[in-house]
Amino acid sequence: GSACRNVQRNPSFSTIDSDDISYFRDVLGDKSVIQDVDRLSSANIDWMHKYKGSSQLLLLPKDTEEVSKILHYCNSRKLAVVPQGGNTGLVGGSVPVFDEVIVNVGSMNKIISLDKVSGILKCEAGCILENLDLFLANEGYLMPIDLGAKGSCQIGGNVSTNAGGLHFVHYGSLHGNVLGLEVVLADGTVLDMLGSLQKDNTGYDLKHLFIGSEGSLGIITKVSILTPPRLSSTNLAFLACKDYSSCQKLLLKAKRGLGEVLSAFEFLDKHSMELVLSKVEGARNPLPSSLHNFYILIETTGTDETYDRAKLETFLVNSMEGGLILDGAIAQDINQASSFWRIREGITEALLKAGAVYKYDLSLPIEKLYEIVEEMRLRLGSSAKVLGYGHLGDGNLHLNVSTTHYDDNVFAQIEPFIYEWTSAHRGSISAEHGLGLMKADKIHYSKSTEIVRLMASLKKLLDPNGIMNPYKVLPQSMLQDK
Ligand code: FAD
Ligand code: MLT
Ligand code: ZN
Repeated sequence: GSACRNVQRNPSFSTIDSDDISYFRDVLGDKSVIQDVDRLSSANIDWMHKYKGSSQLLLLPKDTEEVSKILHYCNSRKLAVVPQGGNTGLVGGSVPVFDEVIVNVGSMNKIISLDKVSGILKCEAGCILENLDLFLANEGYLMPIDLGAKGSCQIGGNVSTNAGGLHFVHYGSLHGNVLGLEVVLADGTVLDMLGSLQKDNTGYDLKHLFIGSEGSLGIITKVSILTPPRLSSTNLAFLACKDYSSCQKLLLKAKRGLGEVLSAFEFLDKHSMELVLSKVEGARNPLPSSLHNFYILIETTGTDETYDRAKLETFLVNSMEGGLILDGAIAQDINQASSFWRIREGITEALLKAGAVYKYDLSLPIEKLYEIVEEMRLRLGSSAKVLGYGHLGDGNLHLNVSTTHYDDNVFAQIEPFIYEWTSAHRGSISAEHGLGLMKADKIHYSKSTEIVRLMASLKKLLDPNGIMNPYKVLPQSMLQDK
């Protein structure tokens, strides 16, 4: 993609030699030192097939001590490292840019403990999100985060990106749910911050530095997370609205009318619906009679089947009578609910299948959130499809431009316009996906010079040689001495 063009390899980094390989084989064992071309080629490329590195080495540590030895060694040899989890990241943060050593903690996938009274789960960072949720289902608990990539993303990757997802509106940010972390710093120092207390005001709460730091400050090896009880009654409605203003009114009405049971409020526009129906196998429009401008998914989660269902039905009838919704359906069983979710969760996959995608993930004031989609459509005319969808309940828009091929003229119409517009409205250029490689030199659209400078100082303090996920998150110019 056009994003990587300006990055130069940091000349202070070494390149791996046969002594390095011998060292890693000694420490990790042969099976955990991967030089196989096929396995490396998939670890070198991101989920969207947009960012591609040329690493010659993938390491699979089995415990924290091995991670510590790897980083201590890499730091002393000035070998750059990219931490990789499920490699589902969408900003080019999880793959090498050049020849960085890839470290994946996927073999560290043990559940350490679950406190059955408090719901506090401790696990290794390589656990797959969906596996954690399946484990918790048996125990009457639920992961407070859910996203389309749950089958392959790792909890360490989720924490490192501070992923938001579909239930953020209900359970809130990982900054609230993560109670503790174990982290290995660039020089191999292990920080045991794996507390499992809900309240602890003893000095600076350093774990927060690592939540959302995208592998640029260290490797997360263990996570302690507060999981909510899995409640017995879940309902899902798929609704159609005629315009964006109705979507906003419906959100307000849902917050007031559904209150504590509202567990998701997602939206997609007509263009997203059309693309999913044409590209995703088995996707079916839950409201097939006609195509509408906007669709909303409302999920409720509560304790009383009859009461919760009645509450949602009353809400829908009122909204329909008031003209806020034009059509709607409530899922009658689990299969229907997953086919409703398939529409919303399938958009990312549909975009991948459609060819090239320019992906943006913005936080904006809700009343302005769809304006930029319309402006972008006017700018691009027939040269591209512009899709708007996302986590409306959190003010998080996913604006995606879909074309058959990457095209510099299209790109020039999108950037810097989209960042300038977001900045002018005091939005965020990354609501939940992070900055990665894609937006490392765009951070100033959302953060002041003073703040970026302090971030760079923290980075230098924790990682003086700059080996952790170089070229990502912060502008290279602020980290590398000329
Ligand atoms: P990776 O992609 O492997 O890595 C992501 C970043 O974290 C990289 O910078 C990497 O260096 C770092 N990292 C990974 N593991 C560690 C570790 N143990 N220690 C330190 N750093 C580490 N994101 C959302 O926020 N909300 C969504 O709703 C959402 N939906 C998605 C749906 C689909 C279909 C896809 C493909 C992606 C979606 N994403 C979403 C983006 C992505 O899934 C998340 O960012 C996820 O949290 C990444 O986890 P991962 O294990 O795949 O990490
Ligand atoms: C989503 O909400 O679907 C994800 O963040 C992925 C995407 O933005 O496509
Ligand atoms: Zn999202």
